[in-house]
Amino acid sequence: MADAVKSATLKIDGTTLELPIRSGTIGPDVVDITKLYASAKVFTYDPAFSSTASCESKITYIDGDEGILLYRGYPIEQLAEQGDFIETCYLLYYGELPTPSQRRVFEHAITHHTMVHEQLTRFFQGFRRDAHPMAVMVAVIGAMSAFYHDSLDINDARQREIASHRMIAKLPTIAAMAFKYSIGQPFVYPKNDLSYAANFLRMCFAVPCEDYVVNPVLARAMDKIFILHADHEQNASTSTVRLAGSSGANPFACIAAGIACLWGPAHGGANEAALEMLAAIGDPGKVPDFIAKVKDKTSHHRLMGFGHRVYKNYDPRAKIMQKTAHEVLVELGINDDPLFDVARELERAALSDSYFIERKLYPNVDFYSGIILRALGFPTSMFTVLFALARTVGWISQWKEMIEDPNYKIGRPRQLYTGPARRDYLPLSKRGK
Ligand code: SDX
Repeated sequence: MADAVKSATLKIDGTTLELPIRSGTIGPDVVDITKLYASAKVFTYDPAFSSTASCESKITYIDGDEGILLYRGYPIEQLAEQGDFIETCYLLYYGELPTPSQRRVFEHAITHHTMVHEQLTRFFQGFRRDAHPMAVMVAVIGAMSAFYHDSLDINDARQREIASHRMIAKLPTIAAMAFKYSIGQPFVYPKNDLSYAANFLRMCFAVPCEDYVVNPVLARAMDKIFILHADHEQNASTSTVRLAGSSGANPFACIAAGIACLWGPAHGGANEAALEMLAAIGDPGKVPDFIAKVKDKTSHHRLMGFGHRVYKNYDPRAKIMQKTAHEVLVELGINDDPLFDVARELERAALSDSYFIERKLYPNVDFYSGIILRALGFPTSMFTVLFALARTVGWISQWKEMIEDPNYKIGRPRQLYTGPARRDYLPLSKRGK
């Protein structure tokens, strides 16, 4: 972080404090309050962190007003159109796009970590077949810390790297196993001659009874979806991973915590909720009625896949997702997907309605993703699992950045206490009837 050249003056109870203002490469400056409590015995108050930078990071940058998303400075549109997920993983984790030889070494390492310990497969037997796959993911990813003891020492750079490679490599295998288990089909082992996305699709949709040839258009769409979901600054699940990691918890446990947080419908669970919303509307002609319900606060209806804590403009990922949805539907010969028609009519209606315009509500990454995933053959219960699969590289890259910061400490927010002041214990006999 650049040294402070400006400062903010704070006057409290007759005390005047100069708080350093620090600037990043791009984006808003920050008022450094690290010494505020020591100097003035007051806290700042920002429960949802709307105005609070929790860390310094070099990984991802979002300009919510302009609808800009950069991974290590590269626009998401360029990475999605010209790159692929494996090099995006390298970029997020190591900070630069790989050279051809770096890519070969990295891709070989990831490919040769895609199998899981055979005993890990036994965890699945303990679940009902109708268990939500996110419940399975939280459990099995957390359990990885019981298997890979040679990559748990967070203070050893090589062990951190191996654990990170294992997470990036094994999430697709475990996600595919969760899907197969839920539909009563046998697990499919990874194949080392397939790309990351193609391998995942095959592990999900191949059956032992016949050969399975991956459709390259669908594999490319899957790969793009992974790129679009890979990282997104200090969102709720990434902040969860950082806070868990700040206590020194092992990386597998931290990623399991991130998966648990992502499950919520306000966050990663929105893609599942958005498709269920589109299915409930069912027909473009019913969009006006639904919009009316959303605008009526007492109905407690939200337009899932719309709005964002940071984007107050169109989420750049949603634009790419809409284009990819069209490509997949055309490739699959689905020319009249009613849900896609409902989604486009819903977007058209909302973007021309003052209620949404005034609140700067635009489609986010979750609005169209469900259309694609459903067309690829995934049930809605798998949508957030795919989000977690893709976000794992972002989570582990942010975790690595924090652990490698020599100044990192355990996160410990304070509070504004409004409970009872000190009072003495009252024996049961004196508490009335
Ligand atoms: C993700 O943080 C990230 O980066 C997350 C993510 C990532 O990549 O990690 O981008 C992934 O989580 C995307 C967001 C997925 N969630 C949804 O699509 C769920 C639906 N969206 C919302 O619940 C909501 O928009 C949030 C939670 C995403 C953001 O909420 P904010 O910014 O806190 O906005 P708010 O709740 O303060 O709403 C502001 C106003 C309110 O109206 P008023 O009280 O001012 O009258 O907008 C309204 C809200 O009621 N509003 C919506 C709405 N979202 C906000 N009204 C209808 N439908 C919506 N979706």
